[in-house]
Amino acid sequence: MTTEPVAGAAIDVRGLRKSFGALEVLRGIDFSVARGEVVCVIGPSGSGKSTLLRCVNLLEEPSAGRVTVAGTEVTDPEVDIDRVRRRIGMVFQSFHLFPHLTALENLTIAQRRVLRRGRAEAERIARSHLARVGLSGKEAAYPAQLSGGQQQRVAIARALSMDPELMLFDEPTSALDPELVGDVLAVMRALARDGMTMLVVTHEMSFAREVADRVVFMDDGSIVEEGTPEQVVGAPRHERTRTFLARVLDPAAVEMEGAGEAEVAAEADGTAG
Ligand SMILES: Nc1ncnc2c1ncn2[C@@H]1O[C@H](COP(=O)(O)OP(=O)(O)O)[C@@H](O)[C@H]1O
Ligand SMILES: [Mg+2]
Repeated sequence: MTTEPVAGAAIDVRGLRKSFGALEVLRGIDFSVARGEVVCVIGPSGSGKSTLLRCVNLLEEPSAGRVTVAGTEVTDPEVDIDRVRRRIGMVFQSFHLFPHLTALENLTIAQRRVLRRGRAEAERIARSHLARVGLSGKEAAYPAQLSGGQQQRVAIARALSMDPELMLFDEPTSALDPELVGDVLAVMRALARDGMTMLVVTHEMSFAREVADRVVFMDDGSIVEEGTPEQVVGAPRHERTRTFLARVLDPAAVEMEGAGEAEVAAEADGTAG
């Protein structure tokens, strides 16, 4: 196990630990993401995926370890974290748009306040990113007038408007109706193709298989295994990975299992049929 950061990595995490009180949520994480690489993080609910992402941009303060983003050690107490965060785009499960601002205004406000861009320049950049996510013509729409999928694409365009060096996605399609998921994944796929560095927490295994350079499987605060999608999703080495994949790839099978168990229990009770 290396303890030195990987030179030139977009994200490098060494010996990362995070506890909330007595609960240790990250139990020593080591991994890195190369520039231009797409890494998908998968794993059961509660395994620490969101906490890992939040430690990368210091929305959570790590209890131990070192996190380096694009050559800057963000866990250095002297670091100007606002400066670092500006280089990281973050997209959450819930879209976090300002409800009282139009799509265009949602994209220009941080450009103007944080990057000090003038109105005309900010609007030009905003329009180009709305077009990139397939939302030309929706500039004047308020979030409530947009579908969940459209709102999430506005959120992605907003992040892109800040010229991030890398993007973190935390289950970006989990809150969406199934028919809206595809458009968001298509935008993310295009972004990956354009060379964006992306760290993506997702349960979309077909996306992970097709787009990820690498898949990381987490369970109980640790990385259990990582490798290419073919290795981790196609031929997992660990039982915990296999169990998890069986559940996400075929939830119906698990429901059937559950139904079977209920039937058996009912029979044992003498209440079946
Ligand atoms: N702010 C917090 N305070 C206390 N416990 C937390 C906090 N954030 C997350 N946790 C706990 O940490 C564990 C991992 O959470 P999380 O990183 O959200 O997992 P995942 O994203 O994989 O579902 C869970 O047990 C969760 O309840
Ligand atoms: Mg989460």
